[in-house]
Amino acid sequence: MEMLFDAEEFVKEAVQKAKDQVGDAHAVIAVSGGVDSTVAAEIVKEAVGDRLHAIYVDTGFMRKGESEETEAMYRRMGLNLTVVHAADEYFEALDGVTEPEQKRKIIGEKFIRIFEREAKKTGATFLVQGTIAPDWIESGGGNRDTIKSHHNVGGLPDDMEMELCEPLYDLYKDEVRAVARYQGIEVAERQPFPGPGLAVRVIGELKPERVQIAREACHIVETELEKAVEAGEMTELPWQYFAVLTNTPTVGVQGDLRAYGETVAVRAVQSFDAMTAQATEIPWKVLGRISRGITNHPDLKDQVNRVVYDISDKPPATVEWE
Ligand code: XMP
Repeated sequence: MEMLFDAEEFVKEAVQKAKDQVGDAHAVIAVSGGVDSTVAAEIVKEAVGDRLHAIYVDTGFMRKGESEETEAMYRRMGLNLTVVHAADEYFEALDGVTEPEQKRKIIGEKFIRIFEREAKKTGATFLVQGTIAPDWIESGGGNRDTIKSHHNVGGLPDDMEMELCEPLYDLYKDEVRAVARYQGIEVAERQPFPGPGLAVRVIGELKPERVQIAREACHIVETELEKAVEAGEMTELPWQYFAVLTNTPTVGVQGDLRAYGETVAVRAVQSFDAMTAQATEIPWKVLGRISRGITNHPDLKDQVNRVVYDISDKPPATVEWE
């Protein structure tokens, strides 16, 4: 597929299209640090320069160190960037909410509202989004039923006042990565991370301390797999790899005492375009280190007493748990 796709030609056309669409106006984009929004930002920045206002929202659902690293990367790219720290606002809006679709709707809507608030300050009339084909196909855009309302589509309120500019609308993930490599973007090979972030990896209530467990566990999964690849125990990193706080308390034992703690699920998949996925075969030893890394971690050992590996394919499962 990548052989037939010409990244250079795509960028040339996409920049021209963005120029034509935005004209002399101002545009805003929510940049997440992921490949999609970063590639979209680079295209529109090329088209309209500093009239593209990039906004990074720290939702409180980002991975360990992610917000700091992302901000630094965008500064290096020379984006006209605003960082919004909104964790408190998100936790408040999600207080007591456990239903997955409701979570997604609230997160998506809050996101757009924060945007609107920031966009007003810039006078922007265009909203640039890094929407790619699987986002809208899975959100019921084609002839399919809604599987999950994806953050960047399902959360859009009807009364949104800005016009959408979506330069990557028809691309699949591998094509976006090809564009990113062509643009020299640092996160070209980074694994995908969902718009709602760790919120879809914390089943049940979204409390800061529960999100912190998922954050630390995700970090352990990432580091152990990266180490395993470096040590030659695995040939390459999975397409996506993370941990989920499953909201399944189980009985365990700590010292001589009965414990009752959380279960963390480890998920790693191979995929081409996120539409289908296969659970990755991880060497037993590596899985063992991940499991012990989680249950021995000073901040996790009193909370988590069980780690399981999710071996389901997509379909029938999805990649994320919510
Ligand atoms: P699922 O769980 O639907 O995920 O099999 C497929 C891919 O999409 C990512 N994902 C999202 N990406 N906004 C996004 O931009 C979202 O709301 C969202 N939900 C899931 C997921 O991480 C996987 O790579």
